[in-house]
Amino acid sequence: MKFIDLVKKRVSVRKYLNRPIPRQALLDCVEAARLAPSACNAQPWRFIIIDDKETIKEITSKICHGVYSFNSFIAESAALVIALSDREGFLRKAAGVLKGTDYYLIDIGIACEHIALQAEELEIGSCWIGWFDERRLKKALNIPSKIKADVILALGYYDPQLTNPKPRKSPQETVSFYNR
Ligand SMILES: Cc1cc2nc3c(=O)[nH]c(=O)nc-3n(C[C@H](O)[C@H](O)[C@H](O)COP(=O)(O)O)c2cc1C
Repeated sequence: MKFIDLVKKRVSVRKYLNRPIPRQALLDCVEAARLAPSACNAQPWRFIIIDDKETIKEITSKICHGVYSFNSFIAESAALVIALSDREGFLRKAAGVLKGTDYYLIDIGIACEHIALQAEELEIGSCWIGWFDERRLKKALNIPSKIKADVILALGYYDPQLTNPKPRKSPQETVSFYNR
């Protein structure tokens, strides 16, 4: 598949088939993240994969309560990839401190989209999840306080006929050439 077709095929998937994802496929997805670029090559990430149905449900009930409950659909996903980042360690290394740019978030973003695209190539749907109770997630997984858990990728096989591409801004609204 051409890269642009893979990009077009990926949409957020929020309804999953009841079919487990082979662990090798999950590792292939994270391998794509491992190879992602990062500022100063700091690679500030670590990924925890949860692929046990009961554990996914248990964690979802903890982190998608109240105002977060519209993300409860992740309880039916086949795997959750929790993206952890060592923000402190990275900031010590990077020029980001001076520039006021949170490079670690850019790095995590690139790595996670690599996961989503690799998943799509394997016919596995994904949805980025940024809205969840991070404090409770860290408590449940025993994650040290200095480590951030900003995003989760919910993964699962899906029926492509049930997906709806979201609208995008037009090319004209998105890009222009700079003319002196
Ligand atoms: C950083 C980030 C956080 C997101 N958080 C959520 C979320 O908490 N719940 C959700 O259903 N979708 C979430 N999304 C998915 C976006 O809503 C989705 O990518 C956007 O609407 C475009 O749709 P598409 O992915 O189908 O092209 C998130 C996406 C990104 C990049």
